[in-house]
Amino acid sequence: MQFETWTKALPELSVDVLAVGVYDDGDLTPEARILDLRGREKLSRLTKRGDFSAKPGETWLVTDLEGLSAERVLLVGLGAKSPATKPELTRKAWRRAIGAAITATARTRVTSLALALPRPATKLLNDERLGRAVAEVAGNTLYRVNDLKSAKKPRATALTRIVVATSAKSGAAVETGFAQGTALATGSALMRNLANLPGNVCTPTYLGKAAEGLAKTHKSLKVKVLGLAEIKKEKMGCFLAVTQGSEEPPRFIVVEHKHPKAKNAPVVLVGKGITFDTGGISLKDPSLMDEMKFDMSGAACVLGTMNTIGELNLPLNVIGIVAACENMPDGKAIKPGDIVTSAAGLTVEILNTDAEGRLILCDALHYARRFKPEVVIDMATLTGAIVVALGTHHTGVFANDDALARELVDCGLSVDDRAWHMPLTEEYGEQLKSNFADMANVAGRDGGSITAAAFLGKFTNGLTWAHLDIAGVAYQGGSAKGSTGRPSAMLLEYLLRRAGAR
Ligand code: BES
Ligand code: MN
Ligand code: ZN
Repeated sequence: MQFETWTKALPELSVDVLAVGVYDDGDLTPEARILDLRGREKLSRLTKRGDFSAKPGETWLVTDLEGLSAERVLLVGLGAKSPATKPELTRKAWRRAIGAAITATARTRVTSLALALPRPATKLLNDERLGRAVAEVAGNTLYRVNDLKSAKKPRATALTRIVVATSAKSGAAVETGFAQGTALATGSALMRNLANLPGNVCTPTYLGKAAEGLAKTHKSLKVKVLGLAEIKKEKMGCFLAVTQGSEEPPRFIVVEHKHPKAKNAPVVLVGKGITFDTGGISLKDPSLMDEMKFDMSGAACVLGTMNTIGELNLPLNVIGIVAACENMPDGKAIKPGDIVTSAAGLTVEILNTDAEGRLILCDALHYARRFKPEVVIDMATLTGAIVVALGTHHTGVFANDDALARELVDCGLSVDDRAWHMPLTEEYGEQLKSNFADMANVAGRDGGSITAAAFLGKFTNGLTWAHLDIAGVAYQGGSAKGSTGRPSAMLLEYLLRRAGAR
């Protein structure tokens, strides 16, 4: 997709489709009013007549308006004019409007679309983020799920050019945003494709190969993939405990992005890569178990994000770490009550083999220490409890550094990939006491997402660390079943801010 800006008069903009906004009371946005002066059909008459309800996401195509270079005008419903006190509503409607305009155009056989929609009334969406959001929404809208259906795929959309009408002074920043958004869309599509694949295809070995593929496309990326023998050498006893019940060999993946201008210590991103989580001997319920193929969403997000970083060649040092294995019941599988020794030397009593994510992550977090990182951020579909707490709208943010947690929440807010700061005080860690080992891997039902984070917290002393529990946001169930690409947008915003601050 090619993205451009247009800073001159709208009637002179020559595209197949020119999209403008309409409120549900029939009022035209200023951009639409500019066209209305020329149009023979009188756009306002069309909307007032009631043909078009202008509900959010609705569209209406008007052809052959006179006096315009554009061949067609697409009316896009924006819903009610939202009060300035609730800017996030406006932004949501705006994103939805862009998505609707792209969907409506992509259904036709035309090749170019211009967006002349009003800006949401919020300072959070500066020019750069606006351009980024357009490219991101375009990527998400045009994403087609990588299913394994045998029927021939419908042909790709003819749409290849999206133009954004903007003021002259905004043009350059919006275009910077296009490049960021394009890289973000590629990274999240990569995440989604990996996460959507079934467990019998997307194995730890497959993830390792995917990581090696990234290094082939981006010069700045170096990849190292450790196999079983090397993982044993690292004494990752907790990770090994989880993988021991599986026939699929584990992989420990390290992707490194180095930039010659970046002097600071690296940001380390760590992803949970359970390619299928049966629960192990603490076997899960059959219902919805298929969704446990998404239990490598954190890993997929790390790989997608490393791809985005490589594509943008961000002036930062970033290291992506993925611990990948299956969690299976087997004669060789770990059993409740088994005690293993983590790479950090702490012993863990495994009371529930379904709490496996924290076991692979604690060894990955320990591995991260060797890079003397400035910041470590792990992401994991770690607990069902976070879904109970936050539903499917917010990522749960836990951190041993409040400023880092607040920064991540703020990043999510500025790019509509929202997160919520969860508590992580000492009491929760105390709930993990074991009679037989340094700690247990579970602490009962209460505050389950927090005790899981507290478990990880025991391995991150001295690091500036945040944990993102993405069990609620990384994929959707039901009829829209599939990976969402979250929280790629939030992470990119965080990394861009760091890159900009240098
Ligand atoms: N992968 C699951 C968490 C999960 C649950 C993700 C539902 C997405 C949707 C994780 O490994 C798990 O099984 N966690 C247990 C922890 C419990 C045994 C303490 C859970 O949440 O039930
Ligand atoms: Mn589990
Ligand atoms: Zn799991």
